Amino acid sequence: MIKMPRGTQDILPQDSAKWRYIENRLHTLMELYNYKEIRTPIFESTELFARGVGDSTDVVQKEMYTFKDKGGRSLTLRPEGTAAVVRSYIEHKMQGEPNQPIKLYYNGPMFRYERKQKGRYRQFNQFGVEAIGAENPSIDAEILAMVMHIYESFGLKHLKLVINSIGDSESRKEYNEALVKHFEPVIDTFCSDCQSRLHTNPMRILDCKIDRDKEAVKNAPCITDYLNNDSKSYYEQVKLHLDNLNISYVEDPNLVRGLDYYTHTAFELMIDNPEYDGAITTLCGGGRYNGLLQLLDGPDETGIGFALSIERLLMALDEEGISLDVREDFDLFVVTMGEDADRYAVKLINDLRRNGIRVDKDYLNRKIKGQMKQADRLNAKYTVVIGDQELENNEIGVKNMISGETENVQLDELINYFKNRKEV
Ligand code: HAM
Repeated sequence: MIKMPRGTQDILPQDSAKWRYIENRLHTLMELYNYKEIRTPIFESTELFARGVGDSTDVVQKEMYTFKDKGGRSLTLRPEGTAAVVRSYIEHKMQGEPNQPIKLYYNGPMFRYERKQKGRYRQFNQFGVEAIGAENPSIDAEILAMVMHIYESFGLKHLKLVINSIGDSESRKEYNEALVKHFEPVIDTFCSDCQSRLHTNPMRILDCKIDRDKEAVKNAPCITDYLNNDSKSYYEQVKLHLDNLNISYVEDPNLVRGLDYYTHTAFELMIDNPEYDGAITTLCGGGRYNGLLQLLDGPDETGIGFALSIERLLMALDEEGISLDVREDFDLFVVTMGEDADRYAVKLINDLRRNGIRVDKDYLNRKIKGQMKQADRLNAKYTVVIGDQELENNEIGVKNMISGETENVQLDELINYFKNRKEV
């Protein structure tokens, strides 16, 4: 038997209703914040991620699904959305549009070759947001407020927003020098990736999945001690906004994020429940990326955004015992007796559907009892039984399955009868 690839999942009908519910909620929330949907390709040039995400990150070095197409081009299934959205912004010269900043969101599958765990998949669905073209602490605050709004709107309570500033490029330069000094004497005890990162990108040592629990990582210098005045002041202003918005947060000077493009504001939203015993606690992550556009040959614009996976949102809902209101109901089930009635029903349900009524019938020659059971399984609000007699009399009993009452309706009036029912 051929099985689905490791780290992927089938979303079966009972679950896809939850996905749709979540996605609809997210689309509605985006309207409140004036963000518009963007859809970019599922694969991009490998170079986009190597340059944008950073070729010494775990994502690029170890986790990408990269392949050559028949024309010999190196392509990669997108591991994240930011680089692709920025590529699209640059390619379509969105900086020239009048309504700045450009506020975008996306929702779709991403691919990372990671170790399978609860909450960690090789194909997962990210919903993400990017605001490009404004360097203003109030838009950083808007993004953070949106993150909280999304999770709270589902009733989640055990949440911890963790923030940090990783400064501008000048602060980062000094910090990197301090990290090299700190790690150099012990680098022999680190994995080969960290050894090669020491001089190219020492910050990546801090979130190496192999070495991150080492003592030297725990007592490494903190970026916050290397922030220059501009970076400090930007961070202070973001925090003032958060206080003003009554958004509680925890500052973690060790939060550096795993992708290279971040500058200034960086954040993660975590599960904060002492009873939670899963390994994955991060629900969502993001931050500001001031150099990314220019790194990808774009204009001197900056952006900020975040992404969450629907898989982890569902995991958090499950953890807090929150069930989504996705009970699906159905309008009408047509029970038939005999061949003539069945033929009549085929045409009838076709006409009813064309009039916006959700209707179905039996296809397995079930007895009446079996057909009624099927109506129950579908949660049908109404049933009708059509037999020779109903056809002869042109009259049918419409049974309301909730009240149990039956009303007689002319067969050729059935469509109008249902069209006039408000609850259908
Ligand atoms: P990230 O932290 O790599 O950031 O991923 C963001 C979120 O995607 C995570 O917090 C998690 O919810 C989800 N996620 C990541 N990997 C997996 C996985 N293997 N299985 C399930 N869920 C996963 C980014 O991707 C950035 N592009 C976010 C961003 C947008 N920064 C600025 N703008």
